[in-house]
Amino acid sequence: MRKSDEAVLDQIYKLREQINLYNYQYYVLDEPSVPDAEYDRLFHTLKKIETEHPEYISSDSPTQRVGAQALEQFGQIEHKLPMLSLDNAFSLEDLEHFHSRISKMLSEHSVKADIEYALEPKLDGVAVSLYYKHGKLVYGATRGDGKTGEDITHNVRTIHSVPLVLRGQDYPDELEVRGEIVMPKTAFEALNEQAQKQGTKIFVNPRNAASGSLRQLDPRITANRKLKLFAYGVGFSDSGNIASTHADSLKLLKEWGFNISEDIKTTNTIEQCHQYCETLISKRAALDYDIDGAVIKVNQFDLQSILGFVSRSPRWATAFKFPAEEEMTTLLSVDFQVGRTGVITPVARLEPVFVGGVTVSNATLHNMDEIRRLDLKVGDKVIVRRAGDVIPKVVKAVVELRDRASELKDITLPDACPVCESPIDVDENGTHARCSGTLICPAQLKESIKHFASRKAMDIEGLGDKLIDQLVEKGLIKVVTDIYELNAKTLALMDRMAEKSATKLIEAINKSKEVQLARFIYALGIPEVGQTTAELLANHFLDLENIILATEEDLIKIPDIGPVVAHNIFSFFHQDINLRKIEQFKQLGLSLINPQPQQPQEHFLAGKSIVITGTLPSMGRDEMSQRLKQAGAKVQSSVSSKTDYLVAGESAGSKLTKAIDLGVPVLSEEEVLELLNPS
Ligand code: IVH
Repeated sequence: MRKSDEAVLDQIYKLREQINLYNYQYYVLDEPSVPDAEYDRLFHTLKKIETEHPEYISSDSPTQRVGAQALEQFGQIEHKLPMLSLDNAFSLEDLEHFHSRISKMLSEHSVKADIEYALEPKLDGVAVSLYYKHGKLVYGATRGDGKTGEDITHNVRTIHSVPLVLRGQDYPDELEVRGEIVMPKTAFEALNEQAQKQGTKIFVNPRNAASGSLRQLDPRITANRKLKLFAYGVGFSDSGNIASTHADSLKLLKEWGFNISEDIKTTNTIEQCHQYCETLISKRAALDYDIDGAVIKVNQFDLQSILGFVSRSPRWATAFKFPAEEEMTTLLSVDFQVGRTGVITPVARLEPVFVGGVTVSNATLHNMDEIRRLDLKVGDKVIVRRAGDVIPKVVKAVVELRDRASELKDITLPDACPVCESPIDVDENGTHARCSGTLICPAQLKESIKHFASRKAMDIEGLGDKLIDQLVEKGLIKVVTDIYELNAKTLALMDRMAEKSATKLIEAINKSKEVQLARFIYALGIPEVGQTTAELLANHFLDLENIILATEEDLIKIPDIGPVVAHNIFSFFHQDINLRKIEQFKQLGLSLINPQPQQPQEHFLAGKSIVITGTLPSMGRDEMSQRLKQAGAKVQSSVSSKTDYLVAGESAGSKLTKAIDLGVPVLSEEEVLELLNPS
């Protein structure tokens, strides 16, 4: 080997090692030690050297995660040891049974040792087997039928939490690791949002999305899906058990580069196992990945081998299943609800079903497009999903269960508003519908009054939905300002209204007349003006008159207000009817509390010396410089020990090297934007 070749190889190995370390810190330890820009820089350097010296490219290089070729078809892989399943438990009694069963069996074998349990989340994704020889990933396979799975090596390689080479040296020559590949909830939502915009396939849940992503012939698609591996055990190792307990084996897996769950615990009692399950249930919604239970495993491997297996499950483990977040039920009918701004929303009426911890009998269907996308018909069996506190959703019509005998009915928009019978305006795609009876539609009136009185708006305590329905139906409220003309005597005549509560309500109504400007703006119900926008308007313009007088250009200048919202605000305050309404509120005693002008706060970057280098992804260096200067930063041209930050883009050169040498923190464009405008 020539001297120069040796130097190149040396550089390649060093870069790979450094990149693998950063990758491990980022994806496994969750503790990145360098900014993304630094990682990218090393990655591009390695890529460049490998392009110049293709003879040194090897499949375990971090640049080779994503192959450029799509497969023709999936191969099959026979598992070294079968991939089994777990027995289920649903209650403390089930767990106690599990415990007494294994205690009995161990005592029959004259085992005296106390049982320890290792506890971990049961991840709801796709089970995989990953086989390493001499520390290098050889293949990845799905569970399949437990004996033979599909070869998904090309796809698992794209997942950053799957090590291509193991860390350290003390791993077995042959190691088969088992784990679950999941799609984080945030990635799943982003994927579906994008699919919605592009009209491509929408996935029912993160598990299906993970499975669909792993079953791609083209690894470039999988690489974009942000999948994550959680390793939960060793399937096979040529040197036998890698530790004496399961918990210790997971620690070793983590050292060798695998991501493992943060919620792994050990305990000695079955009651504590149950307690662990309860705690995990309460954490479930806050985790960024779906779990459908907890897995309880006997920790000691010697006890595991005594206990052995029965049919297809180990006796030494059980899955404590959590309440299902998806259930099947029947779509009984679809009603059309009219909202505050006249938008007509289809609502599914369902055969009541217990899902995600509550009984669900209604679910919004959003719009006609959603109904078409789901190919939904009245009478269908449907899958309802309710995860965490999220509102229940119909995620699928089970078309496979349709039979000719079942009576199915198409779902179509009504011809007229179901409440006031005014004509319905429908957009050209037949997706969004709106009642045209703005002023005469009691549904719109009721909804706008509910919004006006709500806690985040005028906060009129005691003016609840049912009472508002009555007041509108009895003609006592015809326009929103009528709220301030109500008296205790009339209120006392309403159902479930005693004199005392009527008087209290009048007090609450009077109290609401003195209100913060932002709350009043929000209460007006201007389309797409939520609480945040209302606050932005109040803090920027300081009083209502200024907002009324603002032009669309003035409004667009406010950060976070776009042209559509600016137009909505402008046109709202240019309709006579709205101005008259505001005037009337004032005559009825409305008194607005204006915000105090705020002292401009010194920005975190004010006074900092910053240097910009390289090509930034979304803007020129001049624009970046402009933005930094606006925040009060000093933008300079060369890096010195006095530099506070270096903003580095692609192809950054000597300035970046100097900054690293001097220990100057390096920021990516994204990181600077986050500092300038925290989300
Ligand atoms: S241990 C002998 N641990 O649950 C089986 N499985 O029914 C040992 N799963 O498809 C499996 N999280 O992929 C184990 N922490 C965990 C798990 C887990 C999810 C899946 C597994 C399998 C199913 C078992």
